[in-house]
Amino acid sequence: MTAGPADRPQPDDRLSSLRGARIVLGVSGGIAAYKAIELCRQLVDAGAHVSPVLTKGALRFVGAATFSALASEPAETSLFGGAHPIPHTRLGQGADLVVVAPATARVLGSYAAGISSDLLGATLLATRAPVLVCPAMHTEMWQHPAVQENVATLRRRGVHILEPLAGRLAGGDAGVGRLQEPEAVVAEAARLLAARATAVSRDDYAGRRVLVAAGGTREPIDPVRFIANRSSGKQGYAIARAAAKRGATVTLVTTVALDPPPGAEVLEVETAAEMAEAVLSRAPSQDVVVMAAAVADFRPAAAAPFKLRKSDGPPELVLEPTPDILAELGRARRAQVGKGGFAPVLVGFAAETEDLVERAGEKLRSKGVDLVVGNDVAAEGAGFAHDTNAVTIVSASGRVDVPLASKREVAEAVLDAAARFFDPSTPSIAPEKESQ
Ligand code: PMT
Repeated sequence: MTAGPADRPQPDDRLSSLRGARIVLGVSGGIAAYKAIELCRQLVDAGAHVSPVLTKGALRFVGAATFSALASEPAETSLFGGAHPIPHTRLGQGADLVVVAPATARVLGSYAAGISSDLLGATLLATRAPVLVCPAMHTEMWQHPAVQENVATLRRRGVHILEPLAGRLAGGDAGVGRLQEPEAVVAEAARLLAARATAVSRDDYAGRRVLVAAGGTREPIDPVRFIANRSSGKQGYAIARAAAKRGATVTLVTTVALDPPPGAEVLEVETAAEMAEAVLSRAPSQDVVVMAAAVADFRPAAAAPFKLRKSDGPPELVLEPTPDILAELGRARRAQVGKGGFAPVLVGFAAETEDLVERAGEKLRSKGVDLVVGNDVAAEGAGFAHDTNAVTIVSASGRVDVPLASKREVAEAVLDAAARFFDPSTPSIAPEKESQ
């Protein structure tokens, strides 16, 4: 009996980015390989063109014939002897997305080490498409430092990791290591393809000027010592790069020297006062100002002109507040708006360790800005110095949660949220009280 139109799965709009997408589905050798069969079916049902690649290990758990029957083309299992002379470049170069589910510890290790000893390994190296890796293994293996380091290496390189769940494992064990359900993998694949499509086609910042402040300020105690913080500047630079890619003319006020976007104006500063001068003097000519920098709240009231000597005993540091740049931007904008002047979209950050959304909301109101990116700096893999981040973007009209993702992806989400204010009908925040 063949399925009639009523029996066919109805298209789900949230999965529309999968329609017509060319997906390489890598399957490696673990008990969870059986779930990859359902995953393959769901991807095909959502309209994707799926090319399965099975490792030798996978073939011990599932059959190539099953995948060939369900997928859009026959399953490939070897670098040699198939229909195509160079299968890994055909697959890797033609893919819009590569999904590896399940990914064993071996696959994670060889991918991190750049080893191409089988078709899946070679395809992973031959692709420039986004890669979504879904590990599955026993808890002890997943938590092993070698595996965790490989995962961290892959994340640093921009590979998307869908972490395993806690639950029942093979052999009656239970713990973290269970492959994510096919529906979750399909949803993540759809999200990545949608994000890629918008990133490729977006030029919504063309003709706009964006100023980003990045890095942590250093407040001198004496000529050799300073008060600093853990900011690496990575999140700010990611925003500057993403804005430039989307067509903006970028000014970067920074305390650190990373790779700026080509053509950006880069102003190197060190202290909160220098950052304040650079940002406040340029802000009126900007369309968007993003304060991703970790600015010291206090500085030594007077830096010693000479190196403090240990033999003189511990110095007594008298601290004074630094200029609050973001609050000053909020104030200056209110003054400009009152006179009918031009006013940039203002984006602040809030590095918090508790009550993230409430505190981000408080900063939004007290500093009189349009968006506050709440950054839970206590969360694993998020905040200072990591390559990944997890944020909640708070505005007058609601919030957007961005779960753990690369700082580039967080940057895109921040720019998406800021771009909404280019439409004059988007409500801005009504300032309440002075900053804390
Ligand atoms: O640089 P990375 O290692 O990539 O890490 C990124 C980050 C954690 C530094 C970044 O995501 C972040 O959260 N930046 C803000 C850090 C911070 O100083 O938060 P805050 O809650 O103390 O400050 C609130 C806002 O006021 C910030 O936008 C800050 O730039 C601004 N501020 C603070 C003090 C001050 N004197 N002037 C300011 O403008």
